[in-house]
Amino acid sequence: MQSQTQAMKASRRWRSMLWSMLAIIVLAMALPSVGYLVADAAQVYGPERDFSEEMSSNPRSEMWRDARFGQGGMTTQTGPYVTNQMIANIGENWRQVRTGPMTTLGGWFLIGVLVLISLFFAFTGRSRIEEGRSGMTVVRWKGYERFLHWFTALSFVVLAITGLSLLFGRYVLIPVVGHSGFAGYAQAAMYVHNFLGPAFSVGVLLMIVLWAKHNIPNRTDVEWFKQGGGIVGGKHPSAGKMNGGEKVWFWGGVFTLGLIVIVSGFILDFPNWGFQTREIMAWSQSIHAIAAIIWIGFFFGHAYIGTLGTEGALEGMTRGRVDTNWAKQHHDLWYEDLIANGERPVPESELEGNKPAQPASQTGH
Ligand code: HEM
Repeated sequence: MQSQTQAMKASRRWRSMLWSMLAIIVLAMALPSVGYLVADAAQVYGPERDFSEEMSSNPRSEMWRDARFGQGGMTTQTGPYVTNQMIANIGENWRQVRTGPMTTLGGWFLIGVLVLISLFFAFTGRSRIEEGRSGMTVVRWKGYERFLHWFTALSFVVLAITGLSLLFGRYVLIPVVGHSGFAGYAQAAMYVHNFLGPAFSVGVLLMIVLWAKHNIPNRTDVEWFKQGGGIVGGKHPSAGKMNGGEKVWFWGGVFTLGLIVIVSGFILDFPNWGFQTREIMAWSQSIHAIAAIIWIGFFFGHAYIGTLGTEGALEGMTRGRVDTNWAKQHHDLWYEDLIANGERPVPESELEGNKPAQPASQTGH
């Protein structure tokens, strides 16, 4: 009893230490950025500046101010969306947001997620197959599902690299490759991004259609979250084919952020549909970039859990089969259903091209 109380105290102390560290890191990164946000907001939307002094020294400043804020009558230029304006106000505001808070906060957010994942890994290590491998395997993902997953994942990575290069290239790449080097690369990155986007969208839509059925929320997920997916309480919570965390990735990441990124991406990629005013284009770019950055942050978590974070998860998505002990530990309800429906586990040694796996008794588990 006493040792149980001590263990609970130690685990509470450990948890509060972890949470305090995370809070310090998040605040340390967020607080300085708030300064930028406030400064930028004040610049873009802030109170009217008093131009009287400038006007007394430069009588043309009033004209330039009118031009800057989209006053008509400055040019004779005509066009379907903007007529008679020398400077489109929305364009200048959008530029300031894009080069200001979008890049600053976006950059810190992505760095923050990577730091949190590294800290989490440093504190908790890899989630092992507790019973060790059984050497017996069951089917988890079919061939066409794996093809769909890796096609979409690879496109995502290329789109993320090219998209982030276009947004952050000015600060990160120009100092390294110079202006002309970046110009060539940015041109190529833009083409790749614009052509790959629609193909990737098809992959995301197919994932949504094919896998929504595995991700319907239920009571098991509530219990799964209460136990923090196994972090709180040290016991592995029950789960069906997908657990609560995977459902958050599916509905929050792939479904919600995916659809936002796809719709805004199509508006930007095909500006000739006739409804795209400058305002719509500026808003679409901001929404597209912000949703994509949040999705990339989410993706870091998904890719970490699927590889380094969890022993035995990746092989389900690479060769299609998982160890039965992994299945029982992470998706017990799904495994029971599978066996009840007649699936027979197959030994590793009988799988084509596989060396026989050592059973747990010989690996010291
Ligand atoms: C390149 C890095 C990636 C890795 C290493 C990775 C790994 C994995 C693994 C191992 C699984 C199987 C999990 C299980 O069997 O329970 C999985 C499932 C899945 N992955 Fe990925 N993945 C990556 C990228 C992506 C991307 C970019 C997307 C979406 C755009 C994606 C969407 C999904 C979905 C929807 C599932 C099924 C989970 C569910 O339906 O809730 N993955 N991934």
